[in-house]
Amino acid sequence: MTTEAGSGPARLEVRGLEVVFGGVRAVDGVSMDVAPGTIVGLIGANGSGKTTLLDAVSGLVPLAGGTVTIDGEDVADLLPEERATLGIVRSFQEARLFPELTVEDALLVTVDGRGQSDVVSTTLQLPWARRSERDKRRAVAEVLGSFRLERFRLHQIAQLSTGTRRMVDLASIVLAGPRLLLLDEPTAGIAQREAEAFVPLLRRLQAVTGATVLLVEHDVPLVFELCHTVVVMQAGTIVSSGPAEVVRRDPRALEAYLGASEEALLASGPLASAPPGDQRGGLAGP
Ligand SMILES: Nc1ncnc2c1ncn2[C@@H]1O[C@H](COP(=O)(O)OP(=O)(O)OP(=O)(O)O)[C@@H](O)[C@H]1O
Ligand SMILES: [Mg+2]
Repeated sequence: MTTEAGSGPARLEVRGLEVVFGGVRAVDGVSMDVAPGTIVGLIGANGSGKTTLLDAVSGLVPLAGGTVTIDGEDVADLLPEERATLGIVRSFQEARLFPELTVEDALLVTVDGRGQSDVVSTTLQLPWARRSERDKRRAVAEVLGSFRLERFRLHQIAQLSTGTRRMVDLASIVLAGPRLLLLDEPTAGIAQREAEAFVPLLRRLQAVTGATVLLVEHDVPLVFELCHTVVVMQAGTIVSSGPAEVVRRDPRALEAYLGASEEALLASGPLASAPPGDQRGGLAGP
């Protein structure tokens, strides 16, 4: 699938980023690089600043300091919709699709750029928006096919499981033609069994869009399985980052998670009740 702005996956560079809400330093001097075409996982306890970092990259919160550059261009002065023209596409912690629409209609609405919240519709780049009705339907059919969602085509969004609804949400992102995808907890609220389907799904999302991906996720095993690089945040700062295999064994990463999410740790450690043959690892490592 092609994009209209720029070409190929984007490069994201963040330097000394600070975001302050009143007395809270939500992001406190973060620097990170996301190389073109890679999937970088961002993990950390609740309130560690992950969503705020995505908000800062997409232009939804003002910076108290630091820089965000896309392909070497400082985007500080660009509004969210202007950043969208560079191919920055953002998903949210809560999926936002019209519950009364069918899957097909919900995706057509996305293609048209109507019906979502202002933030979403302005943040989406919508390369299909000017295409003919037939082309739009063809694009939607193509996306449904590549995400194996054809059988849900005429189902109402409200009748889908949370997991399937989130898959449709991800499918809708493809239609925005992203070059940099910022995903905020795509598996939130999904049962572990359903969440496992997201590893191949997210791989397909990257393959189909060719985008660079920055993924915020509480499902630690999923992050370590999927991501080339993992970044661990704690209290607005980065406490560990690097190749998944290195971060997995980093005591600082483990500590940042220990106090944070017993559930995630159990899911990733030796106590995990994973089925036999489940190769998914986590911070605790093998
Ligand atoms: N709009 C806001 N106004 C005031 N404080 C905020 C706002 N948004 C976030 N914060 C605070 O900033 C800090 C970082 O929040 P953020 O939502 O970025 O964390 P997070 O890592 O995404 O957490 P979670 O894993 O629970 O989604 C928290 O202390 C939070 O309470
Ligand atoms: Mg968050």
